[in-house]
Amino acid sequence: MLITRLAVSGYRSLRDVVLDVGQLTLITGANGSGKSSLYRALRLLAETAQGRLVASLAAEGGLSSTLWAGPERFSREMLSGRQAVQGTVRTGPVSLRLGFAGADFGYAVDLGLPDPTHPFQRDPEIKAEAMWTGEMLGRANLFAERRGPLVSLRRADSGEWRHASGELSAFDSMVTHCADPADGLELLLMRERMRNWRFYDNLRTDADAPARRPQVMTYTPVLASDGGDLAAAIATILAIGEREELEETIEDAFPGCQVLVQGGDDHGVVEMRQPGLLRPLHVRELSDGTLRYLLLSAALLSPRPPDIMVLNEPEASLHPSLLAPLARLLVRASARTQIILVSHSERLIQGLRRDGGIEEIRLAKQLGETRAEDADSPRWVWPKR
Ligand SMILES: Nc1ncnc2c1ncn2[C@@H]1O[C@H](COP(=O)(O)OP(=O)(O)OP(=O)(O)O)[C@@H](O)[C@H]1O
Ligand SMILES: [Mg+2]
Repeated sequence: MLITRLAVSGYRSLRDVVLDVGQLTLITGANGSGKSSLYRALRLLAETAQGRLVASLAAEGGLSSTLWAGPERFSREMLSGRQAVQGTVRTGPVSLRLGFAGADFGYAVDLGLPDPTHPFQRDPEIKAEAMWTGEMLGRANLFAERRGPLVSLRRADSGEWRHASGELSAFDSMVTHCADPADGLELLLMRERMRNWRFYDNLRTDADAPARRPQVMTYTPVLASDGGDLAAAIATILAIGEREELEETIEDAFPGCQVLVQGGDDHGVVEMRQPGLLRPLHVRELSDGTLRYLLLSAALLSPRPPDIMVLNEPEASLHPSLLAPLARLLVRASARTQIILVSHSERLIQGLRRDGGIEEIRLAKQLGETRAEDADSPRWVWPKR
């Protein structure tokens, strides 16, 4: 399932952003332009399928700190600089909205403030959700809708609408609570696919990094987001996955080197044979950049590719000479999984442009608000409260 459109509204500097994305999409832009915020917004969206959306948002400080801090809208005078930016009388409710759509599914969620009698005023509430088929929400293709505590589902066969039983609490999503093989089959399918979305940000490589410790060896088709199961993930690729691709990618970055996994069931360790050395180097002895490249290889060559993989600045701590191999690795991986990549490394970007078809989105800030440069904002419809 390819996701073709992403939409975020009211989250930090992303006041109102709709983007078209492709098989391999690069998000770039100056410091502070909103790249990491977009990454986090996507992660929040994915957390809906894990039942953690409201808890994660609360952990970021609740709506008061994550909401767009500017005015509800800019007047023409404010945009032209003739008038200072100032708050206006609110016409709509406070709202943070996240959504995605692809050829087969679209989903969006709208969060707002609890009513004033609620004991925990910082806790955001889910006010509305919608799920539809195809790219844009409309009357005809809507098939699951939530308003407040009530969920309505449309039967795929008869097209009839009915209420799902019971009421949802304000912090539960219909994606987790109404997904049911008998009557919420589409929700269930979408939830399972969203649960596979993977996010890699800041894979640790310091001296105490989980990836440098001996690890229990079990079948590991997906690298953990902290890289703590690197040895098992590499052993899995070597045993049942794209062994040759892994070897090629290591050779591409470190000519003449070989990666291996040593040890028994309970203490597997990654080692690397390097030309000129009499013994392989233990994972503890590898440089930060080398280890990071191994982590990225294990993540990207996963034997169970997810629908979508999102990477935030994977180039951090890599020597420039590794950026061309990393670009090739990304292009290779994007044949099997959709990739959204946040990066501001010119060399990596040049490598990607050279090696494959990429969609480039350049973010910039205008009056504190993130906008996509040189791109018309695609159409998007939010669910109604
Ligand atoms: N609630 C908010 N409302 C409006 N803007 C905000 C809010 N919270 C943070 N910002 C701004 O959003 C901007 C985006 O930050 P973000 O971390 O996404 O930038 P970035 O593109 O990842 O930058 P870098 O390259 O430095 O990592 C920052 O300039 C920050 O000041
Ligand atoms: Mg950032």
